[in-house]
Amino acid sequence: MTFRVVVLPGDGIGPEIMAVTEKIVAQVLAHSHQTILFEHQLFGGAAIDAVGEPFPVETQTAIDKSDAVLLGSVGGPKWDEAPERPEMGLLALRKKMGVFANVRPLQIFPAVRHLSPLREERLEGVDFVVVRELLGGLYFGTPKYFNETEGVDTLRYDKASIERIVHYAFNLARQRRKKLTSIDKANVLATSKLWRQTVEEIAVDYPDVTLEHLYVDAAAMHMIQAPARFDVIVTENMFGDILSDEASVLGGSLGLLPSSSHAEAGRPALYEPIHGSAPDIAGKDFANPIGMLLSAAMMLRQSFQLENEAKQIEIAVETALSEGVLTKDLGGTATTTIFANKITEIIERSAK
Ligand code: NAD
Ligand code: IPM
Ligand code: MN
Repeated sequence: MTFRVVVLPGDGIGPEIMAVTEKIVAQVLAHSHQTILFEHQLFGGAAIDAVGEPFPVETQTAIDKSDAVLLGSVGGPKWDEAPERPEMGLLALRKKMGVFANVRPLQIFPAVRHLSPLREERLEGVDFVVVRELLGGLYFGTPKYFNETEGVDTLRYDKASIERIVHYAFNLARQRRKKLTSIDKANVLATSKLWRQTVEEIAVDYPDVTLEHLYVDAAAMHMIQAPARFDVIVTENMFGDILSDEASVLGGSLGLLPSSSHAEAGRPALYEPIHGSAPDIAGKDFANPIGMLLSAAMMLRQSFQLENEAKQIEIAVETALSEGVLTKDLGGTATTTIFANKITEIIERSAK
């Protein structure tokens, strides 16, 4: 079988972490009967520089014919004043692909748990997933504008968009520890009132899943004070964006978290780390490629059913960390290249 993957390296550290990830994916597939064709396309600031827009038509056409999309990261100060910023390309990409369910799993790697800002005992049993609604809310609502005297964003959710993400999250909870936390601001926001009411209605179909509701401010507090209480979190677009960056540091670094984004069944999924283009360290070979590598592993498992190959990458990441090979964000001295070479060596070693 041949899978077609559109690769969008993007900006900043994106191309650096993507290059090593492609090599490692090719390595784990070397002895399998499956082939992945990586097709590079322009996206983000790199596309603005080359053709004047962040999400060119050629990239869109390639995605239509693909089985999955692998994305590095986009954005950077160079394009902050561009008429259409790289980040707008990212929103257009998600919309075009119809990826409404963004899954951001947090795991704590024992080898680096001492780097967490939390006391280690608070990390006992921490293993949760943020399911972030990705196509609605403040990101997409109109009117949206700013002028000299006023800025306006519109927070709107229709019931159908809430229903599909909530079903997605309940189903995921069913495959895990069967606890769902829905996070909203129903004491203030109209969209959250609709959200909470819809969650309650849908909960009737999932009596085996324990449901709790939290307000987002309290949830941010619980995530620091008692993160082990969470299994699956479901929340709207912007709350999910903020809470998932907060979650990432529990494990030691933003650079560790992968994500997958899903549309309706049968359409290609999108895989990207949750972090950005890290302009402060771009071009220095400092970036931690783990979020990118684990996103690729999610792709192998979820889009291509290559469970063994996904596992090989995940185990190699864990082994490298436990052997003390750490990038700068984790307090170590390994460059991106050194870390990736270590992964290659571990995978080779385990194949013998
Ligand atoms: P960021 O996530 O790029 O960086 C935040 C901090 O974390 C920085 O200090 C950075 O060096 C560090 N960091 C992030 N990823 C790392 C990694 N893999 N290894 C080591 N350190 C890492 O967020 P920011 O600085 O607020 O945003 C920079 C640009 O990225 C902006 O243009 C923003 O819009 C964009 N962005 C893009 C995406 C995406 O493409 N999905 C996500 C978030 C931000
Ligand atoms: C993310 C990023 C994006 C988002 C930005 C760059 C548009 O922060 O993927 O988490 O807010 O969704
Ligand atoms: Mn974000």
